Amino acid sequence: MRILVVNGPNLNLLGKRESSHYGTLSLLQLEEKIREHVGKKAELLFFQSNHEGEIVDFLQSLKETDALILNAAAFTHTSVAIRDALLATKTPFIEVHLSNVYARESFRQKSYLSDISRGVIYGFGAEGYLLAADYFLRTQATH
Ligand code: DQA
Repeated sequence: MRILVVNGPNLNLLGKRESSHYGTLSLLQLEEKIREHVGKKAELLFFQSNHEGEIVDFLQSLKETDALILNAAAFTHTSVAIRDALLATKTPFIEVHLSNVYARESFRQKSYLSDISRGVIYGFGAEGYLLAADYFLRTQATH
């Protein structure tokens, strides 16, 4: 199984950015934590971009048999283009947020992605990515 971990805008600044919401791990450290957790149980691929179109291009390259862990960050709340790309790929995905978006501004409570996701994990910091990986590993859930 191939698990793809996609992080959206500003998540390249993890560790330096609003650590009360997003924790102290850098993106590299977060990816390493996921890598250690998954070990040899799946192939892992990481992608981060601050650009909506680049994320759309990346999503278009996925296979139905891939499993996707997606933190689209601010694009979660705005992007019809990312939603449409996800609908087109049919790749099963879990929406992840480091912070508890329901304990924050009301605009973060609107997601263009949740209703087409396999499920949503938010508020558990970096652990959320591990929980999402566990779901895919345990169920081997692809399309
Ligand atoms: C986030 C929550 C979003 O509202 C925000 O724009 C982010 C990160 C999270 O991981 O908690 O950049 O997706």
